[in-house]
Amino acid sequence: MIPIKDTEAIKRMRESCSIAATVLARLKEQVRPGITTYDLDQIGRDLIASFGARSACHGYQLHSRRYPAYTCLSVNEEVVHGIGSLKRILRDGDIISLDVVVEYNGYIGDNAQTVAVGTIAPRTAELLKITEEALSIGIKQAVPGNRIGDISHAVQSFVESHGFSVVREMVGHGVGREMHEEPQIPNFGRRNSGEKIKPGMTLAIEPMVNLGRYEVRTLSDGWTVVTSDGSPSAHFEHTVLTTESAPEILTIARPASK
Ligand code: MF3
Ligand code: CO
Repeated sequence: MIPIKDTEAIKRMRESCSIAATVLARLKEQVRPGITTYDLDQIGRDLIASFGARSACHGYQLHSRRYPAYTCLSVNEEVVHGIGSLKRILRDGDIISLDVVVEYNGYIGDNAQTVAVGTIAPRTAELLKITEEALSIGIKQAVPGNRIGDISHAVQSFVESHGFSVVREMVGHGVGREMHEEPQIPNFGRRNSGEKIKPGMTLAIEPMVNLGRYEVRTLSDGWTVVTSDGSPSAHFEHTVLTTESAPEILTIARPASK
């Protein structure tokens, strides 16, 4: 069963999601050649704290390991869950995925974006554009009358029509009090499959798209997922609220003055 949020839960989801989005927007402004991913993670940690929120990534447990950083920072062939490091200095031509998940007042907001560092190769720029568009296309499918598989199918067919591939090992998810709730939302699948979408669901939709083949593997740090062929990978994510009609994107940043 996919949880349906009541008015109070939705109010709190709005707050945690707006914090997650504002942190991501400000973190993005710090991306430039020469900065290390460790420094970006520290900036992320401070931004999250400035809103009185907590990183839902820090200490997140997966198979007896705890995630050691505050944000997920994944460069080039890194797909997700990259750990900030003093050794990773961003260079002109890189791309970096910033994934920010916060908990505020008992509820989680989850969002991610991939950005260019300086000037990037044209096909890589296209990868970013298509992945972001795939997210919008997926979100549009999150309406009553549809099923989860309609989101999956829309993302996959759009991405593959542009010659890119969708990652299969990681999926989008319901989000609320927990970072990962039902349902799983794969970025590939069949139309009219899976659970029915109803108003009041909060869903993290997150296409992860590779420029080359779809296979991925995990590095020996136990976290960093990379493309098996070394090709660049992009990731865009929003937390959305389903309604009677069009979904509402909850991870929208607050205006600059806070
Ligand atoms: N956005 C990611 C997800 O949905 C965040 C998990 S990061 C981790 O799985 F560090 F907590 F693993
Ligand atoms: Co997520």
